[in-house]
Amino acid sequence: KPVYILNGPNLNLLGQRQPEIYGATTLQDIDTMCRAHAVDLGLPVIFRQSNHEGELVDWIQEARQEAAGIIINAAAYTHTSVAILDALLASDLPVVEVHLSNIHQRDAFRHHSYVSKAAKGMICGFGAQGYTLALDAIHSLIHTPS
Ligand code: DQA
Repeated sequence: KPVYILNGPNLNLLGQRQPEIYGATTLQDIDTMCRAHAVDLGLPVIFRQSNHEGELVDWIQEARQEAAGIIINAAAYTHTSVAILDALLASDLPVVEVHLSNIHQRDAFRHHSYVSKAAKGMICGFGAQGYTLALDAIHSLIHTPS
């Protein structure tokens, strides 16, 4: 089964959007990096982005049946979405949370994450490299059941 890598709102603008915070790497570049790293790990991946909360919920519900684990950067919904949290809890899958920026260095409203309540752990502050770190993490979670 594949790992679902799900990306939330405005991440389609990576590379153009606040590059001083999020870097010059585009989401397409991150998709390519993840695919290459996933091949090395022998882990199939499905990489998606949506600006819509409900679509992210639908994909998490789909992952419940179809995936071995979820890597999620819920972007702004991290800080607001009980619906995404509930979908992740219902999935019963290993979840790794990713953020490009170090959310704890930023605005106070970014310090709280609903996603964290459902995640095994969080990787933040390492930019695009956080996604490959998250793949390593989910790979060991899938292959070393707790
Ligand atoms: C983000 C951090 C969020 O606070 C923000 O709303 C984003 C991106 C990150 O990857 O650093 O859109 O999730």
